[in-house]
Amino acid sequence: MPQVTIPALEQKRERREPIVMVTAYDYPGARAAERAGVDMVLVGDSAAQVVLGYGSTVPVTTDEMLVLARAVRRGTETAFLVCDVPFGSTEVSDAQAVETSVRFAKEAGADAVKLEGGSAPRLSRIRAIVAAGIPVVAHLGLTPQTATALGGLRAQGRTAATAARLVREARGVQEAGAFCLVVEAVPAELTALLREELRIPIIGIGAGEADGQVLVAHDLLGITEGRTAKFVKRYASIGDDAAEAIAAYADEVRSGAFPAPEHRYAATPEALEGARA
Ligand code: KIV
Ligand code: NA
Repeated sequence: MPQVTIPALEQKRERREPIVMVTAYDYPGARAAERAGVDMVLVGDSAAQVVLGYGSTVPVTTDEMLVLARAVRRGTETAFLVCDVPFGSTEVSDAQAVETSVRFAKEAGADAVKLEGGSAPRLSRIRAIVAAGIPVVAHLGLTPQTATALGGLRAQGRTAATAARLVREARGVQEAGAFCLVVEAVPAELTALLREELRIPIIGIGAGEADGQVLVAHDLLGITEGRTAKFVKRYASIGDDAAEAIAAYADEVRSGAFPAPEHRYAATPEALEGARA
């Protein structure tokens, strides 16, 4: 598969070929995504919850994200690599946003960074990062980093005011230079309207039909424990498989069934003699 580029993603949008994006947080996750032939890999700050065990995406730091992003970069060949900039790493100023984004580009080899929100300060951040030469993916609708201000993790754009704001912000991020937009947890009809409005690809999550789809790998793999969002589809039960496999290993260690002869190294007679001497 050739390297996925921004023009290639634009072409997919024009041809109405769905773009596939999935998150990854480590080397094996990136390898699996790469082998599956996805178009875009996202080092999402969902890592905060699904990998690091935080209660939300707010606490994860740039340094933590960079460790994960570098591992994903090492496992990614052709897919387009997007990294989330975590909460607090771009809020202070345009200069801070550029500094953070440059770290993701330089230290982790990110092809683009993803930024939540479309308010005036956020548009200014997008313009600054794009001006620095780093492509930006915008993220609107349900923006988990500021979910408290949105009234919780809930679908967005279901009132006249919030729907109007979403359309306004979508135009805004495109104008500011974002080359792609992730829209989370909004009515499918609103996504359809946004697709008519915008010329950049729209990647949906819980947003109905779009130019592409993204899911959190740990959700679709069934690693995430407990309830997941309405828009998640599980394609495997890796979490249960892992717990079962480790339980089987524990049983065999406790019963003495493991290690079996085939897992042992044979000593040489000289080594045994040396050990006894
Ligand atoms: O952090 C993440 O995984 C995301 C996707 C759900 C879009 O932002
Ligand atoms: Na995110």
